[in-house]
Amino acid sequence: MKQKIMSGMRPTGKLHLGHYLGVIDNWVKLQEEYDCYFSVADWHALTTKYDKTENLRQDILDVVMDWLACGIDPDKSTIYVQSLVPETAELHIYLSMITPQNWVERDPTLKDMAKILKSKEGMASQINYGLMGYPVLMTADILTFNADLVPVGIDQVAHVELSRDIVRRFNNVYNTDFFNEPQPKLNNCSLICGLDGNKMGKSFNNDIKISDSAEVTAKKVMIAITDRSRMRKDDPGHPDECEVAFKYWKIFGEENEIETVRCECEKGLRGCADCKRKLGAKINERMKEIRERRTHYEQHPELVEKIIREGSEKARREAQKVLTEVRKLVRMY
Ligand code: TRP
Ligand code: SF4
Repeated sequence: MKQKIMSGMRPTGKLHLGHYLGVIDNWVKLQEEYDCYFSVADWHALTTKYDKTENLRQDILDVVMDWLACGIDPDKSTIYVQSLVPETAELHIYLSMITPQNWVERDPTLKDMAKILKSKEGMASQINYGLMGYPVLMTADILTFNADLVPVGIDQVAHVELSRDIVRRFNNVYNTDFFNEPQPKLNNCSLICGLDGNKMGKSFNNDIKISDSAEVTAKKVMIAITDRSRMRKDDPGHPDECEVAFKYWKIFGEENEIETVRCECEKGLRGCADCKRKLGAKINERMKEIRERRTHYEQHPELVEKIIREGSEKARREAQKVLTEVRKLVRMY
């Protein structure tokens, strides 16, 4: 039997190249070898945005369209919306009973989230009971399918470690070996920085969206930071100090192209504007097929809704098997 993978993303709206290169592209490869469950974690979104739900539905659709565009195949992977699998909520209740409060209070990622909220004016009240349960809910997601592996970014590893502790405790309390200890599986992809050299992020206004058109992408690339010490286009440049553009070349270019860029830059044979025009074209080449698929789904939202519905039903059927067993183990009525 194939090993099971479970992972998820909060519905933050249209995703960017950081998501594509850092997470989704990895999922696309994993779906060939594993039985994959990918969740749009809308309950997790509520932990911090319970009062901003106007766009939740569209945000979920956008995330799923981006996944599909990038190559997540609904015939290979199960794509679902967390809240359409209520079994996860029930499991979350059982897990919340056996999770000591100080375990969640120790969770470093949660501490960071709380710190960010506290630093924002009037947001302290947003550190709610639900947010404290964030990693427990994530554990419930993973255990809903009794998954073996959880591909996540480094910032989520602490949560998965906590999941392992919760599993051990569950197995111990109910004298069973029913649940696997899920293993975090770190994405080994290169991190792409934002156009300004900082971490790429939706709220920093430095991202390129998966859904951006070729024109918008090319235009955005033109503002990417280059070698700041370079004044004229025939000055010798320093690719290794070219903060963004050359890093993008290293991600999107072929080996020989990268070498050409380096040589021409160092010899002052290539101006930055010209270099970035070529870079934009290069990125667009890679995104072409993805963009076409996305446009197709945008034009047929009913297809996306069908994929979500069918995926969630399938996820539910699997979840029910696990919950039947869990109810037995906990000795519920
Ligand atoms: N918390 C994850 C994030 O913000 C998303 C997520 C929700 C998740 N449930 C999950 C990741 C289960 C892995 C497994 O990125
Ligand atoms: Fe960067 Fe290209 Fe300019 Fe060199 S020519 S500094 S690689 S943008």
